Amino acid sequence: MIDDIRAARDAALARVEAAESLESVTALGTTLLGKKGALAQLKAQLGGLATVGEKKAAGQAVNEALQSVAAELAVRTDELGVAATDAQVQSERIDLTEHAGWPTRGHAHLVTQAWERLEDVFVGLGFRVAEGPEVETDWHNFEALNMGEGHPARGEFDTMFVDHAGDGAEPGRTVLRTHTSPVQIRTMLDQEPPIYIVAPGRVFRRDTPDATHMPVFHQIEGLVIDRDITMADLAGTIEAFTKAFFGPGWSSRLRPSYFPFTEPSAEFDIQRPDGSWLELGGCGMVHPNVLTACDLDPDEWSGFAFGFGIDRMAVMRHAVGDIRDMFTNDIRFLSQF
Ligand code: DAH
Repeated sequence: MIDDIRAARDAALARVEAAESLESVTALGTTLLGKKGALAQLKAQLGGLATVGEKKAAGQAVNEALQSVAAELAVRTDELGVAATDAQVQSERIDLTEHAGWPTRGHAHLVTQAWERLEDVFVGLGFRVAEGPEVETDWHNFEALNMGEGHPARGEFDTMFVDHAGDGAEPGRTVLRTHTSPVQIRTMLDQEPPIYIVAPGRVFRRDTPDATHMPVFHQIEGLVIDRDITMADLAGTIEAFTKAFFGPGWSSRLRPSYFPFTEPSAEFDIQRPDGSWLELGGCGMVHPNVLTACDLDPDEWSGFAFGFGIDRMAVMRHAVGDIRDMFTNDIRFLSQF
């Protein structure tokens, strides 16, 4: 009997040691220590032993065996519990050095690139960069540019008005500037000639976005005021700019046109090396009324001005099919430039 008990105990201990998971060791506890376990069954046979001494010895052996199996189960449960916790911690561990790919280096937006290159080229030609506000008075945006109230050219601008009542401003007299030309006025009022400035900036018109229009876009304005400035200076400046900006194989021409703030006025086109022409912008000799509005004597001072769209130029330069792509900021589009 004692041998059977020891054999059952050793078999039970071996199974506990062999258990590989918390679930299996828990299940073993029920099997080995329960009523149907080998040791319990041996215990049930104690009554059949011949002598009290034998019963006592065997009973003690069974109890010791059950205790040692229970102790081993506790040890194994602990071990497997620690291992399970370790495995869970490992699997849920956050790797702080992990990354989803290195960040890629970005670059300036296409419009910004064009804007900055334009500034560079004009600064190289001797111009300074000037600025003006995006919210303008009717006077700076129209009136001083020889577009008095009721002038038909105002209609072409699809102006957006700003509703503000401060500082005694009359309603309908504050606008989002429709072009960068008011910077001409501000510069002439601000500083004495000679003036050689370019003014890049954002402008606004009440246009529905389509492939060639945006309600917000960018222009660059140029203004020269000095003594004895002629149309030849204008044509030469446009030509020098065209070669410096687009390349030595490009050239330019002026075509007669009309703008209220210049007289004579022209549109300027640029010619690609393949001989084809692109319309770029407007220009002309600063109108005497504009000089007078800025307290400059037209008999003493003369000058020229020009203006063109930065986005439009970038669109032409890079053969972009839809100007809206310049503003949607789809990374697949932007990363090409
Ligand atoms: N301001 C004009 C426009 O937005 C462009 C322009 C034309 C500017 C002739 C000029 C100029 O300075 O001389 O349509």
